[in-house]
Amino acid sequence: MSASEDILVADKISKRFDGRVALDEASISVKRGSITGVIGPNGSGKSTLFNIIAGTLTPNSGRVHIQGQDVTGSSAAEICRRGVGRTFQISRLFGEMTVVENLVAIAHGIDDRAAIRRALELLEFLEITAIADKWGSELSYGQRKLVEIARALMLQPAIMLLDEPFAGINPRLQNRIVEHLRALCAKGLTVFFIDHEMRIVLAECDVVYVLAEGKVIASGPPERVRDDPLVLDAYF
Ligand SMILES: Nc1ncnc2c1ncn2[C@@H]1O[C@H](COP(=O)(O)OP(=O)(O)O)[C@@H](O)[C@H]1O
Ligand SMILES: [Mg+2]
Repeated sequence: MSASEDILVADKISKRFDGRVALDEASISVKRGSITGVIGPNGSGKSTLFNIIAGTLTPNSGRVHIQGQDVTGSSAAEICRRGVGRTFQISRLFGEMTVVENLVAIAHGIDDRAAIRRALELLEFLEITAIADKWGSELSYGQRKLVEIARALMLQPAIMLLDEPFAGINPRLQNRIVEHLRALCAKGLTVFFIDHEMRIVLAECDVVYVLAEGKVIASGPPERVRDDPLVLDAYF
């Protein structure tokens, strides 16, 4: 694989919190247009890896490259400008704003009319137009997950980082989200997501990384990772 095919490369990332190792020379690369997944038990460093890629945490060592540029240590805003969108494990929607207002609030570089138009298009794409005028605080957990995705898409990212988009939602909604992500990939988006359940990751990803205790213990196509003895040890 040539380097230019990789939209995201994280090379030997280490991160400690008060001496505790959260990531230990973890390296991943994400191919443009792929769906790439990260799985790993709780506390294995998945969210920390995302936070480092997204610029909300700085690594102790290692480098992050996005679209060929070294962005290590750049601010979250700068990394966002470079085409990285993200959702959070815990919803960050404003409860006292409507869904449309939540989306328009983070639009950038376009006027309000264009932002509203883009917001409505995204809600239509995600089949949640019916909740456009609901307050953030009124949304169900599953609706929040979808609105979080819409919100990240407002900035038209080249790559989306999704932190546990499938956690705590029913299989029907999980499948809907997978279909939406596939459709976005078909339009050129790259999807990089975390999950702690294996089912969707193994079924839907082109490439899977497995983290355990801050290390990448396996990576590759799902069928190979699934049968890796190290992975079975970490999970069962
Ligand atoms: N801000 C933080 N301060 C201190 N420790 C943290 C912080 N964030 C994560 N950790 C620790 O780093 C390890 C990895 O956490 P995390 O990346 O959230 O794991 P995962 O997302 O795989 O569940 C855990 O031991 C966690 O307690
Ligand atoms: Mg996490």
